[in-house]
Amino acid sequence: MTNNKPILTVDNVDVHYGDFQALHNISLKITSGSIVSIIGANGAGKSTLLNTIMGINKPSAGTIAFNNKAIAGLSTNQVVGQGISLSPEGSRVFEKMTVEENLLMGAYLKPARQKKDETLEKVYSLFPVLQEKRDQYASFLSGGQRQMLAIARGIMAGPKLLCCDELSLGLAPVVIKDIYQKIKEINMEGMTIVLVEQDVKRSLKHSDYSYVMLKGKIVMEGKSSELAEEEVRDAYFGVNQYAKY
Ligand SMILES: Nc1ncnc2c1ncn2[C@@H]1O[C@H](COP(=O)(O)OP(=O)(O)O)[C@@H](O)[C@H]1O
Ligand SMILES: [Mg+2]
Repeated sequence: MTNNKPILTVDNVDVHYGDFQALHNISLKITSGSIVSIIGANGAGKSTLLNTIMGINKPSAGTIAFNNKAIAGLSTNQVVGQGISLSPEGSRVFEKMTVEENLLMGAYLKPARQKKDETLEKVYSLFPVLQEKRDQYASFLSGGQRQMLAIARGIMAGPKLLCCDELSLGLAPVVIKDIYQKIKEINMEGMTIVLVEQDVKRSLKHSDYSYVMLKGKIVMEGKSSELAEEEVRDAYFGVNQYAKY
């Protein structure tokens, strides 16, 4: 479900941690209404990229535009206020809060808070298990339920763009399948999604467009249905013609 208009444009972005350069000249376009995956091995720079979009890391060069408005340099709160939210790596939730308290934390900015009852209802209909467990502490949730809570909390901010960092990490295949089905449903309702994944096959299967990262660089991109899995694997592992990076 895409209309070819970019909702997010990242242009020539570099990010450093001290002297270490984690991202090199990253450029990408996220089409409004699409699911885009960012594929890469551990350490490729995927989380750094999402955290830079979110304003957690500051780029040392380049620009980021969301709906044609420059957002690089904004605080995370301001980025969330513009309409981007993050489901962080490792399904991080607030363990000492109930499920519902966790969800309400996602709606902490005023516009989202004003709509919180409506959004909560939507989120509960998408994830009935969270409604069943609304009064339980998040520490009692299974891994899959935590991941759902992390996604749902992201949705509570009312984003136009939802970034998901490694949804499938550590989860059983049947749970992963369920979660990707939910992502599809969320996308069908109009939300643009960025998926960060380590699993090549899964990334290609669940996205419209893919970027492959290697050592902080984008080394391959294309429509997910047109990328050859073997070629993506070479890029991912930095072998054959990708050894030069
Ligand atoms: N806070 C940090 N300080 C220094 N180096 C970091 C920090 N976070 C990540 N890195 C380094 O940046 C590179 C990319 O990391 P990351 O973005 O977490 O990769 P990925 O999410 O693809 O596994 C790695 O070499 C990692 O060690
Ligand atoms: Mg990561």
